[in-house]
Order: sequence, then C-alpha cells, then structure tokens
Amino acid sequence: MAPWQVRDLHENDLGQVVRLLEESRDTAAEPVVTLAEAVGAVRGGMPAVVATAGATLVGVAVSLVAGERAWVLRLAIDREWRHHGIGSGLLSALEKSFTDRRVRRVGALLPSHELGETAFLNSGYAGRPDTTYFEKALPSAPAEATILDQVGGIVPQAGLWDRIAGMDAEKAIIERRLVMPLEHRDLAEHYHLEPPRAVVLFGPPGTGKTTFARAVASRLRWPFVEVFPYQLAADPHGVAGALRQLFARVDHLGQVVLFFDEAEEIASERRDPTSLAHRITNELLKLIPVFRRRDRRLLICATNTVRRMDPAFLRPGRFDYLIPIGPPDADARRAIWARYIGPDRLAHVDLDRLVEASARFTPADIEYAARTAAQTAFERHLGADGQAAAPADPERVTADYLDAVAATRTSLTEDDITAFDRDLRAAARV
Ligand SMILES: Nc1ncnc2c1ncn2[C@@H]1O[C@H](COP(=O)(O)OP(=O)(O)O)[C@@H](O)[C@H]1O
Ligand SMILES: [Mg+2]
Repeated sequence: MAPWQVRDLHENDLGQVVRLLEESRDTAAEPVVTLAEAVGAVRGGMPAVVATAGATLVGVAVSLVAGERAWVLRLAIDREWRHHGIGSGLLSALEKSFTDRRVRRVGALLPSHELGETAFLNSGYAGRPDTTYFEKALPSAPAEATILDQVGGIVPQAGLWDRIAGMDAEKAIIERRLVMPLEHRDLAEHYHLEPPRAVVLFGPPGTGKTTFARAVASRLRWPFVEVFPYQLAADPHGVAGALRQLFARVDHLGQVVLFFDEAEEIASERRDPTSLAHRITNELLKLIPVFRRRDRRLLICATNTVRRMDPAFLRPGRFDYLIPIGPPDADARRAIWARYIGPDRLAHVDLDRLVEASARFTPADIEYAARTAAQTAFERHLGADGQAAAPADPERVTADYLDAVAATRTSLTEDDITAFDRDLRAAARV
C-alpha cells in the first residue's frame, strides 16, 4: 500500500494547501492561475483533492469545471515526496469527479518546466506546443464611494420629504407614481406594474422641482447625482463623451437618482443639427434605453419650458411620466409661509393676509421674503449699535412680513402662469 492517500480537499485543509502551493513551485515564473483564483475555485465547490502522508498534506490538485470542459488549475507536490506517483494519483482522483460531472475534456496551463509536466505526461495528457496563451487584466469595478465621488453624488439626508410644505397634489402624485413602486418593487411586480425609470418634472422656476428630486432620493435612501449641462459642455471629452462616461460610471452604482436640471438646455427641439443641444439630445436618446434596462435607478429631468423640449425625447417609451410642479395655491402658500415663519412666531402672524398678498409667489419667493422679514426683525431687536435689545413687538410681525412681500419681486409673471397652464394641458402625463 502506498505510504500516501488521496482524498477530497476539505475547507480546513486550506491553510496547509496554501503553504504547499507557495512552497513547492519549481520555477520563478508566475503560475497562470493565482493562489487567490485557486482558493476561490475551492471555496466555490470545484473538484479539489489532496494527498496525505499520515497527518501531513503532501500534495494538492485544484480544478475548475464549466460544462463539459475542466481545467486543472494547480498541481503541487511537497519536494520530499516527488517521484512517488502522487501527481498521477491526484490527477486520476480529479478525473473521477470530472467523469461524474460529465466532463469530456481536461486541460491544464503550466509555466514551462514546472514539475506537473511529468505528472501530466505520465497520466496520458499531451502537450500542445502549437498554442500561445494570452491574458489581460481587467480593471476592477471601483467601489461605490469612489464612483459617487467621481460623479459628484451625495446621499441626501433623511427627512427632506417632510420638509416640503404644502404642494399636496404634487406630493401625492410623486409619492404614488415614483416613491411607492420603487420602494415596494415586489408588490408592484405582482401587479405587473413596471416601476418608473425616467420622469420629467416641469413647471416655472422656484416651484420646487429640484427640491422634489432630492426628496425622492432621500425617501428611497438612494444616492443623488445631479448633472449640470454647463459641466458637460466644459468636459475635455466633449459633451457626448462626458455623457457616456457619466452613464457608464453611474451604471456601477447599485441604485441612484440621476438628476438633470434645466433639461430643456440639453434636449431642446433639434432644429439646428450642429448645435450642442442637438448632439447632447442624440447621445441621451441612445443612453436612456440602456439606462432603463436596469432596476433601482431613476432618471429625473427638470425643466421650466417643457414646450421647448424635443418631442422625440419625451416619448412614453423614454419617460414614464411628465409631472407638472405648478405655482403653489393658497393652501400650499399657507403651509410654506408657516414653515418659514416657524412655530414660535406663527401665533403673531395674520397668515390669511400673507397668503393673499403673495398670490404669484413661488416657494422660493416665499422663502426669500420670510428671510427678509426675519432679518429686519432681528436687526430691530439688536438696535443700531448692535447692543441695546429692543423687545420683540408682536404688533409688527405681520407688518414686517407684508413689507417683505411688497419688496420681493415675484419670479412668476402672468405669462409664465398662462404658459404653465397651457403646458399642463398639452404635456402633462401622470
Ligand atoms: N414646498 C416647499 N416647501 C418649502 N420650501 C420649498 C418648497 N418648494 C421649494 N422650496 C424652496 O424653494 C427654493 C427653490 O426650490 P427649487 O426646488 O430649487 O425650485 P426649482 O428647482 O423648481 O426651480 C428652495 O430653496 C427650496 O428649499
Ligand atoms: Mg431647480
């Protein structure tokens, strides 16, 4: 009976196996299969056998099986135990499990003059001097954090959604159409409801499109990546190259909200085929279908002028919804005022008058007017020399806010509102 035995490799042999693979190499050449790859195959349940002499591990063979083809990845024998037929013993044990797995052909790649050569020749393997081995190392996918850094992404803080005051109709639509299907994907799938992959938010400036986009990412706890058209234009790879690179990078993220602000800048109606906008639109038209194929990602485009956008760009196959974010109605203005005035001073304010006086205000205008009023009251309290504290005068609070409203130039004109109403009828798709 041979003084050595062959058996399957067990997980707790790995320490000895690694030492053997490292110590028993015969040439300085790097093995074709690295130690990490060999251990990976063992851990992945590929056939592997060891030879033992008493308690000592004296030989090992590791393989990889794919369909009808197997590869002997590594064969190693302790120097003291050469010429005992261990190599052939290991190979025949491996071949037994190959046959069980219906493998029809076995190959091995060894550095020239490695000991295994003899073992293979003795076991009926033939050399293939007519072959050349090529290899190439692929760059590994960078970590999420690195990609987020490269694309300027952030993970938005929690609670942004709850800080959106009023806008109940918009909130309800965005919650139902976007957040819920993306959050409960299994349930959506049960009803054969495809979660949205791309949407447009349109409406006049300052109505909260960016705020909503960020809040959606915050609710989903997905990273938020904002793209600025001017950055694309400044990229040394050219706009199309920059877009392709951006989408390729974002593709490595497990989940993401990708946000294009001022989308009309990049996807405007393609009248002039040489224009920058035309080139960006063309590239995006190619990139969006690919983007749409993957789960757990949402593209949000925001625009003030949806009517200037390329109709081909807006087609249903590309964007699931075109959601209007309009000027706040009286209820929304009341909620937004309350949010910016703060609970302490709210009791002293005549909200009805503020709501009425700020008829054409956007949330951004209200935020600005509220800050102006707060600054006035703050300065009055401190006094001219910044020392003497004048007690706050409850009578003045509403007046301060009304003054601030009067001094704020609204960002919405009647024309903006008419145009938005027209867009609402012509373009909205919710
Ligand atoms: N519903 C809202 N409640 C409170 N603040 C809001 C609301 N909507 C917008 N804002 C504020 O108004 C400003 C402008 O909003 P933004 O989202 O940038 O508008 P848009 O992207 O439509 O131009 C931001 O400072 C934002 O915090
Ligand atoms: Mg914006």
